[in-house]
Amino acid sequence: MSIKQQFPFFSNNPDIVYLDSAATTQKPNSVIEAITQFYTHSNANAHRGNYTTANEVTTKYEAIRNKVAHFIHAPSPQDIIWTKGTTDAINLLAKAWGDHNINPGDYIVVLGSEHHANFVPWQQLAKAKQANFKTVNILPDGSPDLEHYELLLRSNPKLVAIQHCSNALGNIQPVHHLLSLARDTGATTLVDGAQAIAHIPVNVSDLGCDFYVFSAHKMYGPMGLGVLYISNKVKQNIQPYQFGGEMIERVSIEETLFRPIPALLETGTQNISAIFGLSAAIDFIESSIFQYALKNKTQLFQYLIDELKKINEVQLFGNTEKNIGVASFKVLEESTADVSALLSEQNIAIRTGHHCAMPLMQALKVDGTHRVSLGIYNDKTDVDRFISALKSAIELLN
Ligand code: ALA
Repeated sequence: MSIKQQFPFFSNNPDIVYLDSAATTQKPNSVIEAITQFYTHSNANAHRGNYTTANEVTTKYEAIRNKVAHFIHAPSPQDIIWTKGTTDAINLLAKAWGDHNINPGDYIVVLGSEHHANFVPWQQLAKAKQANFKTVNILPDGSPDLEHYELLLRSNPKLVAIQHCSNALGNIQPVHHLLSLARDTGATTLVDGAQAIAHIPVNVSDLGCDFYVFSAHKMYGPMGLGVLYISNKVKQNIQPYQFGGEMIERVSIEETLFRPIPALLETGTQNISAIFGLSAAIDFIESSIFQYALKNKTQLFQYLIDELKKINEVQLFGNTEKNIGVASFKVLEESTADVSALLSEQNIAIRTGHHCAMPLMQALKVDGTHRVSLGIYNDKTDVDRFISALKSAIELLN
């Protein structure tokens, strides 16, 4: 069975050329079946009941936490916290860590190419705390200006929050280098791995970051679930940000005693069916067929870039060498709205606009771009259909 045949979306939509995997990936049968199986055979809450089904769910739920820890090379399953997604995890940190560690006059540093999820929560926290929010200048290819970064590090920031890969351009950022410089200043570090997790092996121990966040739905898993990794070293600096069931040890009228992380940050019932789905998504990513297709995707991306470069009217953005498979471009002299409408008429599914990265668009001096993002299921036919649709759109507009 080909990779594409494992995704029912494509048999249900044979005419659609889906090139928007940076927004969300399609889901393989195994993930859909894991979720269905949970609801049809094992639906019970985790860590609540003491009957067989509930106990089985609890055991599997914690085994999946362990599996996620292995997947990103976290030292312990206790470093893995369930969230609703990347945005939710960063907002959680802005409260649970930021409220208690950022003080007036402190510095927070992010890249100028961040997605709004790793930008606005820190900007707003800085405003609320009378702290300083600084963004690292971006070079024309979307990579960070390292001299400017080093200059900003001289302010000894409390937090350095950086993207692993740019959602708008696909650039793989030099995270090892950025983190090592940040660590030397004593900063707490966060990596937004939303776009990296499905494309490059992630090793949080090797990265040496304090926080790493990602979403299940961008790695062939379900929506509404994310993962927050917290290194042991910073756990003591975190306070609960929500109160309720499961995060407590003991409650009396006078006082409440809290449980440690991860329970401390997992108030109430989690998205257990999605957690079962994530387990299947990890199996899928770790399967040999996926790993084989990942190599083909790199060649396909090169083909896509070569074909785009042959079109005179196309201006490409970003670093196409160190890239997860995202082509960001504009058609010179044409409005992005017109081009995207014509592509949509031809059943081409791509994202057009600022990609929730307005400061980056400002740095690139554009209102927005067209973004083609490859998933594991895309093939040469998809790229050929897209290129031919783009050429006919340009011809029509000319
Ligand atoms: N953050 C997602 C994107 O880049 C939705 O499209």
